[in-house]
Amino acid sequence: MATADQIKNLIKAHIDHDDEKFKTVVLQIAAYEAKHGHETFARELKKYVERIGTSKGSIVQLNQQNPMLYMSVPSDRLSDLIVSQEILERITRILDEFRNRHKLQKYGLSNRRKILIEGNPGTGKTFTASVIASELGLPLYSVQMDKVVTKFMGETSAKLRQVFDSIASTTGVYFFDEFDAIGADRSLDNEVGEARRILNSFLQFIEQDTSESIIIAATNNQKILDQALFRRFDDVLHYSMPTQDEIRRLFKLKLGVYDSSLNVADSLIEQASTLSHAEIIRVCDDAIKTSILQSSKITEKQLTRLMDERISAYGVKEA
Ligand SMILES: Nc1ncnc2c1ncn2[C@@H]1O[C@H](COP(=O)(O)OP(=O)(O)O)[C@@H](O)[C@H]1O
Ligand SMILES: [Mg+2]
Repeated sequence: MATADQIKNLIKAHIDHDDEKFKTVVLQIAAYEAKHGHETFARELKKYVERIGTSKGSIVQLNQQNPMLYMSVPSDRLSDLIVSQEILERITRILDEFRNRHKLQKYGLSNRRKILIEGNPGTGKTFTASVIASELGLPLYSVQMDKVVTKFMGETSAKLRQVFDSIASTTGVYFFDEFDAIGADRSLDNEVGEARRILNSFLQFIEQDTSESIIIAATNNQKILDQALFRRFDDVLHYSMPTQDEIRRLFKLKLGVYDSSLNVADSLIEQASTLSHAEIIRVCDDAIKTSILQSSKITEKQLTRLMDERISAYGVKEA
């Protein structure tokens, strides 16, 4: 029988996608077995070795070329993310734990790296993934859900496996936006339980992942959240529509750069209370644009009008 070390090396070679290393270990096992009189088994192993690396669809083709992953290198700062003090502290803790992960590992502890973000559209879920990648100097890989999920359960699982192979081989921040889409394909509705099975297989991949990458899953869909789901993540962040304080900070952050003398009235804050962070930022951008084009100062009246426009055009919550 192969020794524990040989098995460990085999697994490591597989994780590293190192075919050469894999072959070497198998040959070592074959030699060991031959020496102990198991010639037939040794011959069998050697036959397998000849086929390693020549099979079609080998895992090595992944990574940078993987069309299911969209890579970017964001430069967004944590200071530009307007969230509650509690969320800010949790994000800071994720960053600190990643930076000190080796120190933690020495004590058998692992850093928080599987994160679920739930909340309304336009409250900064995608932005948070960018901020975390940027602050840690890691590439951001956005998983292209439409390329992962197909009508076929088997195919979807195989594609998910490829994505998780990349997560293990290339350290980065991997972002699964609206990950519940994995199980929500309409064409699967008629097959009882199929959608849930796909979602479960995704959750299992998350649970089994022991890479250094940070995995962030985001959803707008509160309905899918249950205890079983929370358990798979190291941290769950609940995002909500901006508070009055956050609205004030958003105005200041966006308009302050352009006109530092501007004082945002309470009535404006009140008026903005049904808008998401993303919508408030758009109102600010619109105000700045108008101001540039008309060579005029930003006024309260103008902000009120732009906000009315946005509230009536986009309904209450859409980003
Ligand atoms: N909490 C926030 N703080 C600062 N900017 C935000 C925030 N939420 C949204 N934004 C701005 O709005 C844009 C769209 O938000 P996004 O992160 O895509 O929202 P979500 O993913 O929750 O739907 C972001 O790129 C960012 O410029
Ligand atoms: Mg988003």
